[in-house]
Amino acid sequence: MSNSLRIGIAGLGTVGAGVVKILAERSTHLTAACGRPLELVAVSARDKTRDRGIDLSGVRWEDDPMALASAGDIDLVVELIGGSEGIARELVEASLKAGKHVATANKALVAHHGTALAQAAESKGVALNYEAAVAGGIPIVKAMREALAGNEIRSIHGILNGTCNYILTEMETTGRDFADVLKDAQDLGYAEADPTFDVGGIDAAHKLAILASLAFGTEVDFDNVHIEGIEKISATDIAFAKDFGFKVKLLAIAEKSDDGIVQRVHPALVPEGTPLAAVSGVYNAVAVDGDRVGHLVLEGRGAGEGPTASAVLSDIVDIARGLIVAPFIVPATKLKAPARPLMEAHKSSFYLRLRAVDRAGSMAAITRALAEASISIERIVQRGGKGDDSGRLPVVFVTHETDESTMARARTLLAQHEDVAGTPLMIRIEDGELR
Ligand code: HSE
Repeated sequence: MSNSLRIGIAGLGTVGAGVVKILAERSTHLTAACGRPLELVAVSARDKTRDRGIDLSGVRWEDDPMALASAGDIDLVVELIGGSEGIARELVEASLKAGKHVATANKALVAHHGTALAQAAESKGVALNYEAAVAGGIPIVKAMREALAGNEIRSIHGILNGTCNYILTEMETTGRDFADVLKDAQDLGYAEADPTFDVGGIDAAHKLAILASLAFGTEVDFDNVHIEGIEKISATDIAFAKDFGFKVKLLAIAEKSDDGIVQRVHPALVPEGTPLAAVSGVYNAVAVDGDRVGHLVLEGRGAGEGPTASAVLSDIVDIARGLIVAPFIVPATKLKAPARPLMEAHKSSFYLRLRAVDRAGSMAAITRALAEASISIERIVQRGGKGDDSGRLPVVFVTHETDESTMARARTLLAQHEDVAGTPLMIRIEDGELR
């Protein structure tokens, strides 16, 4: 009997083709590294005729990906279809049930069903590996599962969506509009099939929910992630932030306090000179704070063929070597109940941009309204000029530390204020943990 690890791949998009290439081009090295050959037995994808620039001669083609789950000659199913439901979920569930190892890049699937899938994998003694689901080429899952096991993790701060980071960086360096830059990111192949998952913060939230479970030993809890996207961030905000010494980033944060765990994804002002502020373009980064190791930052490409395929290979190699660990470090039945949503109690200082009517006394009236809402102001900046078509000028306030509910009340008051047009835009300022 062959001692090779027999692999079936479902999904031959950018990442699937990348995995096939590595298996072929690094075959000699991988066989030596694993002590056994990695054998691509079968593949399944939607379109058999498409030229993907890969050699599939000698590899069985299955029109139905579910055939991989039932095939007697496959040990490991690599799921690269995507989506939290439908065929991807059915394939992973059926493969685990059939006692096959699974490696997946599917963050939505793991974020929504990770705990149940982990239980299914553990009951069969097989692997459920998902390195490629979080932060592309950065080996953060492996680091959390293995290298950081001696730590109690206090917090995770991540830049987990390459598309958003690319857009914000381009807006900063070129002054171009959000929509224009999003189109570039799509053309470059970074964005999800539905780009609202990227810009709306959902993709980063999928990844954060997975990391939070690894960090805190809790069930994967996507539903309790507070999510805001970058759609409302303008080049004006990026310019103001720069004047104040900050970069605008979409941050994904999971942190533990005495009250519980908060998981949040939102745009944030990050002080220049800190590691996360320096992460630009499609790069991702994860900053982990562990009680023994202290602050640790891993940075790398978060999307694209090579980095994501690299992560899938890490999962495959572990399985070939016989390194089968509980998907979320501790057995799934021992994961603690989901993290509670604690966003209302969260405190920070805030950037608040509004459009003020250009009349004598308007600024005094607005600051009075903020004082009535118990908001203490650290800084006010008004840009000169003629204002917009209605004569309204952008004004930015930076507040002292306050909590979310106080800020929400203040924004409601300001939105109704006669000297303010529209609802003020709010961006949280994150500085404490990042220095
Ligand atoms: N759309 C994702 C991103 C791809 O932009 O980061 C990797 O998950």
